[in-house]
Amino acid sequence: MSGFYDLVRPLLLRLPPEAAHRLTLRALALAPRRHATPGDAPSLATRVWGIDFPNPVGLAAGFDKDAEVFDPALRLGFGFVEIGSVTPLPQPGNPRPRLFRLKGSAAVINRLGFNSVGAAPAASRLRLRPPPGDPGRGIVGVNLGKNRDSADAAADYVEGVRALGPYADYLVVNISSPNTPGLRALQMRAVLAPLLDAVETARRALGRAPGVPPPPLLVKIAPDLSEEERADIAAVALDHGVGGLIVSNTTVSRPPGLAGPHAGEAGGLSGRPLFALSTAVLADMYRLTGGRLPLVGVGGIAGGADAYAKIRAGASLVQLYTGLVYQGPGLVGAIKRDLAAALAADGFAHVADAVGADHRPPATIP
Ligand SMILES: Cc1cc2nc3c(=O)[nH]c(=O)nc-3n(C[C@H](O)[C@H](O)[C@H](O)COP(=O)(O)O)c2cc1C
Repeated sequence: MSGFYDLVRPLLLRLPPEAAHRLTLRALALAPRRHATPGDAPSLATRVWGIDFPNPVGLAAGFDKDAEVFDPALRLGFGFVEIGSVTPLPQPGNPRPRLFRLKGSAAVINRLGFNSVGAAPAASRLRLRPPPGDPGRGIVGVNLGKNRDSADAAADYVEGVRALGPYADYLVVNISSPNTPGLRALQMRAVLAPLLDAVETARRALGRAPGVPPPPLLVKIAPDLSEEERADIAAVALDHGVGGLIVSNTTVSRPPGLAGPHAGEAGGLSGRPLFALSTAVLADMYRLTGGRLPLVGVGGIAGGADAYAKIRAGASLVQLYTGLVYQGPGLVGAIKRDLAAALAADGFAHVADAVGADHRPPATIP
């Protein structure tokens, strides 16, 4: 698949971004099953929320919004795939054009605005997954959004939990996409606490197969939060049954030096220019939660060194999306190879041993 991608990449990058994305999804859906990737290095295996991940490198939300290609995406070598954001009702998203490549900066700006087939079609695809415990199941998280015109955000997330929770290995409350009016205001403490209570009640009420616990609930946050807002989110998360945080979504900021004719477009910026900001927020959330909540580090990962830096800053798992646009699926294997080498070089037997290493004083030599 990656050799094939190397051949077609110049063509894909010449197509309008949304057309290229549709074509990529179609090619993935048709990719033959024999392209299974080799097994992962034992040092990359990790257990988070009681789930055994074969490796800590996941596909971030937004690539497979409608749950069309999670199995082929897993076969690219990802340790887990997050589908969504899914809104309860179908909605078209914002008018086009709404997706822009900033090639010179290895970045993307999007203002898709939660284009989604809605919860029912997504559920009907996820329902076909093998049951928990089946070795062919893979790990699929479900990222929940709200409909643009819905006045009751909490009700939308509760509906998402009820409709999609039964098929999810973890659930994400996405309150950080910059393209749905009012969404990011849900991160404010006074709104977030009751919202999480409602969602948590729905999660606990999920009927699953005997012996299968309800999926953990994660909250995905923006990188554009003040120090006070970050501290509030950490406190609320620790208090309201949240299983972990995903740090971070795209940024509405525009770091200096962005290149290309689309640098001035409105929307969320992802890719390399997001790396430093999202990693700094990740490190801060690790500190603010005292390392007690598993964190998923995402934003600007373009190689194994970036993934390792996120892990050392406090991430138990990492995700990427924009790096794939520029480097193709071969990036997944390269990240895993370089990450395993970095762990070995620093004397870590398992990825879990390196989580938050930057926050600990270096071992003193006796
Ligand atoms: C085209 C595009 C669509 C996205 N859609 C979603 C989405 O629906 N829900 C979400 O939580 N994040 C979404 N994201 C954000 C990514 O999941 C990720 O947080 C962000 O892109 C930073 O990672 P990256 O630099 O590796 O791309 C989207 C990103 C891109 C580029």
